[in-house]
Amino acid sequence: RALIVDFGSQVTQLIARRLREAGVYCEIHPFNRVDKAFLDDFAPKAIILSGGPASVKTETSPRADQSVYDYGAPILGICYGEQTICAQLGGDVESSDHREFGRAMIDVVKSSQLFEGVWEPGSRHQVWMSHGDRVNAIPDGFEIIAKSEGAPFAAIADEARKIYAVQFHPEVVHTPDGAKLLANFVQKIAGLTGDWTMAAFREEAIAQIRAQVGDARVICGLSGGVDSSVAAVLIHEAIGEQLTCVFVDTGLMRAGEGEEVVRLFRDSYNIPLIHVEAEDLFLGKLAGVDDPEKKRKIIGALFIDVFDKEAGKIENAEFLAQGTLYPDVIESVSFDGGPSVTIKSHHNVGGLPERMNLKLVEPLRELFKDEVRALGRELGLPEHFVGRHPFPGPGLAIRIPGEVTKEKADILRKADAIYLDEIRKAGLYDAIWQAFAVLLPVRTVGVMGDERTYDHVLALRAVTSTDGMTADYYPFPHEFLGACATRIINEVRGVNRVVYDVTSKPPGTIEWE
Ligand code: XMP
Repeated sequence: RALIVDFGSQVTQLIARRLREAGVYCEIHPFNRVDKAFLDDFAPKAIILSGGPASVKTETSPRADQSVYDYGAPILGICYGEQTICAQLGGDVESSDHREFGRAMIDVVKSSQLFEGVWEPGSRHQVWMSHGDRVNAIPDGFEIIAKSEGAPFAAIADEARKIYAVQFHPEVVHTPDGAKLLANFVQKIAGLTGDWTMAAFREEAIAQIRAQVGDARVICGLSGGVDSSVAAVLIHEAIGEQLTCVFVDTGLMRAGEGEEVVRLFRDSYNIPLIHVEAEDLFLGKLAGVDDPEKKRKIIGALFIDVFDKEAGKIENAEFLAQGTLYPDVIESVSFDGGPSVTIKSHHNVGGLPERMNLKLVEPLRELFKDEVRALGRELGLPEHFVGRHPFPGPGLAIRIPGEVTKEKADILRKADAIYLDEIRKAGLYDAIWQAFAVLLPVRTVGVMGDERTYDHVLALRAVTSTDGMTADYYPFPHEFLGACATRIINEVRGVNRVVYDVTSKPPGTIEWE
């Protein structure tokens, strides 16, 4: 397996994704956790040093532990990874006036195992750069294998020691051949076989869960979404009746969702399920609150309370299972000492385990959404369930900017169901990463029949994305949007105007709060 040493780049997880696409299992670990003991235990066949926001010129900037270089596995440094390799192995890095962001062209100057079958010497290729510092001199043993105008050391190699470093980002799609270079590194250079599949993951995960849990009891919180459902089914396959699921219905779910979860788990899978109906409790605590982070905190804290109380009734529970995915981890917590920034406090990560004094089982922690879906299919979950758009833990509460009330939640549920129904009928559901309606705290004047109306504005949002980290708005045909608007205004009392959100992420986020 391969190890990705993370220096906090926003795109580190894309490296992992590309490696899995090449059929190689890998894990991402923060740079400050990777030392000799870690390496001996992990036994990586290939090590990749990620990019990161720091400058190697500042004194406190992160470095790879010396053991990474001594360990002997092939190393590939990307962007900051290249700079830290140069700084640590005797090269030189300088802050440059010529910062390079975005597309750049590089010239291949020498053949290398890294480029084998992909790039010939003398050819020119598009790559994606994002760096301020640049390498000034390379360590002994290294040679330049590609250069660009802004980065004379765009790619360097020490073929004897099998240490490679690139200033550009091969993991992003804007480096069109990047995936092939990464595949070369893990397969040709490091000799990993590329036969890793979801079926293999399923077997490994089941074995790991059994080893971790033994004969202890496990509690799993179901949210109604794909992630926690896949986690629950996987764990149930591993340990059967030792698993009990708790489903807290916050009253902030979409139309029909609660019922479906109960049907699927109790009836189809025969998984023991505690169903807590807590709508009044949640809406009661949310009354009068309009700050987005406060809403998230209230829902998170209450969820923990309710869950804790129910879980307390299950005797001898030792483990808590969560369907945490990799993007949840990166967007929610900064590693200790790590540089990534908290954008929103997603409540599905953290909180529960500390409070409940339970150990965590998180079998999906290294996976991306589409990989979880593939695993769900592998486990036989129904296609319409597995293919569901992601839904945030705080639910409709963060799709009702301002105060949340039952009346608003009901209006939104109805409008959202119509919107999704139209999307499905148009055959567009699977082309979209996430589509939903947002009920705005703005009223506008309208005219229906001969009557004046003064009702809410509803915003429709639909985005494409591969991982939720970046997103583009979906370019619906105008006729489609017009038809949705008409149907929603005709069928949902309380909405008299519909608008479409054409903001990408960044600078917007997918949700409105
Ligand atoms: P944003 O809005 O941050 O969303 O661009 C990225 C992805 O995360 C989901 N999301 C959340 N999921 N708890 C969750 O479990 C949350 O608090 C939360 N906020 C956003 C969002 O739906 C999208 O898929």
